[in-house]
Amino acid sequence: GGRQFFVGGNFKMNGTISQIKEIVGHLNDAKCDSDVEVVISPPAIYLLLAREHLRKGIEVAAQNVFDKPNGAFTGEISVSQLKDSGITWTIVGHSERRTIIQEANHFVANKVKAALDGGLGVVLCCGETLEQRESNKTMDVVLAQLGAVAKEVKDWSKIVIAYEPVWAIGTGKVASNEQAQEVHHAIREWLGKDVSSEAANATRIIYGGSVSEKNCKDLAKQADIDGFLVGGASLKPAFVDIINARS
Ligand code: G3H
Repeated sequence: GGRQFFVGGNFKMNGTISQIKEIVGHLNDAKCDSDVEVVISPPAIYLLLAREHLRKGIEVAAQNVFDKPNGAFTGEISVSQLKDSGITWTIVGHSERRTIIQEANHFVANKVKAALDGGLGVVLCCGETLEQRESNKTMDVVLAQLGAVAKEVKDWSKIVIAYEPVWAIGTGKVASNEQAQEVHHAIREWLGKDVSSEAANATRIIYGGSVSEKNCKDLAKQADIDGFLVGGASLKPAFVDIINARS
């Protein structure tokens, strides 16, 4: 208990200038619980636009970052460039990057380390595919993803862990309250064993995968669910209902 509720909105590769302005305007006017940490993550090309229009108190996250300092890395964006632009968080290791772009656990871990060293907060994603779940490999997969980071990073105070079962992402097939709680609890136990008891107590573990204004309230009641990483619904007015899931 005592962990601040965290709700992230991952716009993925969606939106136009006018749509981003509309979403940001809606958030600026919305009544959000004051004790919820809210972070939105538009595509890279709209990060500055969002930051410029968004009110104070809501932060902006990149959807990805590179693990090296500025230099000859065509197409990439550095930690220091995000910082320079007022972007204070980054998502790392989203399953779409792990599966479609084939980012490996150690590459993800290097990005987490670079982001933390440069002073960014990190939403670190993990999660299993349906095939892995059905062959009882869920925790092996999740702990291999997180364990690669634990090798590089001892201080987890600026990491938010997002558990996102791949089979629940964008499918409308949300994990049950029990399925999500079971994995979140196991992740917290692992933090206590392999990182520190402080990390186990303080680290926010948020759930992602078909979160909606309808299912968020019950998920938010689970002991080890400390918020959400919202995809599709973060583009809609319903995002505010998800932010306020605990009220
Ligand atoms: O990062 C967000 C997740 O991938 C969830 O996406 O809410 O559209 O299922 P979704």
